[in-house]
Amino acid sequence: MLSKAPVITLDGPGGVGKGTVSGLLAKQMGWHYLDSGALYRLAALAAMNHGVDFDNESALAVIAEHLDIRFRQEADVGVIILLEGDDVTRQIRTEEVGSNASRVAAFSRVRDALLRRQRAFRTEPGLIADGRDMGTVVFTDAPLKVFLTATSDERARRRVLQLEQSGSVVDYDRVLRDINERDERDRNRAIAPLKPADDALVIDTTELSIESVLERVLQQASDRGLMNL
Ligand code: DC
Repeated sequence: MLSKAPVITLDGPGGVGKGTVSGLLAKQMGWHYLDSGALYRLAALAAMNHGVDFDNESALAVIAEHLDIRFRQEADVGVIILLEGDDVTRQIRTEEVGSNASRVAAFSRVRDALLRRQRAFRTEPGLIADGRDMGTVVFTDAPLKVFLTATSDERARRRVLQLEQSGSVVDYDRVLRDINERDERDRNRAIAPLKPADDALVIDTTELSIESVLERVLQQASDRGLMNL
């Protein structure tokens, strides 16, 4: 039987701050957290490691179906992500893997293969689900759906900061170009394109701090009776 644990979905384009807001929200509410982008990134990295052609939907679907991954909570460093036993926590965050993730994500057979894995994260007391189609496809019955937006300049600025903090040397113009390319592909693909669900609360975060975005989402969760369930 499918779990009916409550879900809050946070969708939006890359670099908008979904990951940060979702992580804080999950911590504050004591709920589980699904980083669905990480699953697409892991599928892309597995395909790269196995030399699979990024135009070969059947081979990519096989990779997605057989992904050998583990999320391990470590006391000091947080969650460690293992692919076929190797720690790939940092490697999956590179722009190269992100861009390839956006390519594999355009194939319906890859998306189908990852659907069941994503829904398995829905357990009590609740789930914060972060991605592109959490509210439109994966958890359509979520009691609260949020869609975050920001200008691509602001998202590029945030992504550069994030990459620099993790020790990478990055070029702003290149990051902006990658963000625009990825947006284009994610928004215009035929299957599960990036767009707000009809019943989503849309928040433009361009001028907002992480704290004020978090506060708005928590207020909505409280208004819908989702706190202290
Ligand atoms: O959120 P992210 O940057 O980690 O996601 C990487 C890519 O994966 C993104 O460009 C599109 C794809 N993706 C998707 O299609 N659906 C999701 N629910 C999450 C990510």
